[in-house]
Amino acid sequence: MEPPPESQASIFSKFRPDHFAILVLSLTILKLIFTALTCPTRHLPGPWYTRFTHLRLKRAVVTGQRIFYIDNLHKKYGPIVRLSPHEVGVADLSSFREIHRIGTRYLKSDWYQRLANFPKLGVFTMIDPREHGPRRKLLSRSFSRTYLVENWESVVRKKALLCVSKIRDDAGRGSADVYNWWMLLASDVSAHLAFGESFRMLESGHSTQFIRVLKKLTMGAGIMVEMPLLRLLRFIPISAVQEMFNANDYILKGAGRAVEMARSRTGEANIFAKVIDDCEKEGEGHIDDMDVRIEAMNVIIAGTDTTGVTLTYLTWAVLQRPALQRALEEETAALPEGFTENDLINLPLLNAVIEETLRLYGAAPSSLPRVVPEGGSVLGGYHIPQGTTVSTQAYTFHRDPYIWSDPLTFNPLRWIPTSATATAEALTPDAKTAFHPFGAGARSCVGIHLARMELRYAVAFFFRECRSIRLAQSTTEESMEFENFFLIAPKAHRCEITFRGGRRE
Ligand code: HEM
Repeated sequence: MEPPPESQASIFSKFRPDHFAILVLSLTILKLIFTALTCPTRHLPGPWYTRFTHLRLKRAVVTGQRIFYIDNLHKKYGPIVRLSPHEVGVADLSSFREIHRIGTRYLKSDWYQRLANFPKLGVFTMIDPREHGPRRKLLSRSFSRTYLVENWESVVRKKALLCVSKIRDDAGRGSADVYNWWMLLASDVSAHLAFGESFRMLESGHSTQFIRVLKKLTMGAGIMVEMPLLRLLRFIPISAVQEMFNANDYILKGAGRAVEMARSRTGEANIFAKVIDDCEKEGEGHIDDMDVRIEAMNVIIAGTDTTGVTLTYLTWAVLQRPALQRALEEETAALPEGFTENDLINLPLLNAVIEETLRLYGAAPSSLPRVVPEGGSVLGGYHIPQGTTVSTQAYTFHRDPYIWSDPLTFNPLRWIPTSATATAEALTPDAKTAFHPFGAGARSCVGIHLARMELRYAVAFFFRECRSIRLAQSTTEESMEFENFFLIAPKAHRCEITFRGGRRE
């Protein structure tokens, strides 16, 4: 006689926790083997584990080490390297040209969309060129050099001078944290353009609550892209957590002021007044009130840490080199009173120092992820399947020894072709293509002219007004090491300077 079938209950009663663990482990191993066997990038060079998982890359991202991790992989495996089953690092110049050329079919990856936490996308996060193109065109006019010079140069100049006087005062009293002051300068300029009124952060020495919450929210969005489960934190009723994960309504409401200022023609205009005018006049493109709120936030987010961090590293790089510092002090001292940006554009050393800072310490040297179009492509001699994310990073291109001689040395003279120690390579077509601190192609930085104007004024005033300044002892190689969360920042989040010979009240 056959034994009676075991009831389900009795099967589970024999199922012990260690069985469960073995089952989960077996399923995980099977999944990993399946991923490795079907990995669309398995034919590419790269560490074996990147065929199985993106976890190693993720670890580098969440620990602020992504640019270094990828750069090391390029050094070991070459210009095309598998970073995870679906992401490939690209450090080959002709592939870079292909990926970022105008009219490219390699579109931004959905990483950008996941970063957006608001009801609509803005110029930075839009993916479809049919949506991005008209928006970009509208904004580009308000960020053109001509328009900025006519309408905003005096604001930038005044704020840069105020910022430098604050730095000088603090340094005179003991020490000044230029990281803090350059950040305040950049956010005050961006906020003024976006809202049409000064946030007076330089005057008070502090960010406003709106700016603080906006920065936290942006940080929260960056964290949630990497760890989506953290979205659940928005339900925790602690104000610091809420500001990071659930402050959209507060921010959108605050940004309504940008709409008010753009639509009322009574107050000081902001850049969106022109955008709206252009939109209505040309009948081209479309921008509604929610778009204005979102773009206003974009301008503040994209224009603050980028410019602030770049200025911080510039200060640090120059103050380590007293001869260069003196030369810059002399060049800027010879400027006429009431100089303008046109005068600054003609200063060889000032501009060379800015370029060299952007090469080694530009604030956005990370991967700019794009997706391989339908049909796949061939990059660096390898077939890359459609849908793969390809990531190029300026950090690697700006340090490529085949493109730059002595690439790790901060040498502004490489940008001055006539100087005795200039190396000709910066002028080669390869160097020109490789140099992309503001991104490349149709998605390059729309704020480039504003950023350059801020950098020029800040540097000119700083070296004119703060002579005989030096790094404080708290500012070291270690404190200035990069932390990389899409942008870079000094690990210590400060950079202190002081006067040689101590206090100057
Ligand atoms: C030194 C300062 C700056 C640096 C290094 C920088 C760098 C960059 C880079 C690398 C990109 C391309 C991002 C990508 O492809 O994912 C970008 C885009 C962008 N930047 Fe900047 N930026 C700076 C200043 C500014 C300023 C002052 C503004 C604001 C007004 C701004 C607004 C934007 C916007 C809106 C985009 C998106 C453009 C688009 O997708 O069409 N940036 N920036």
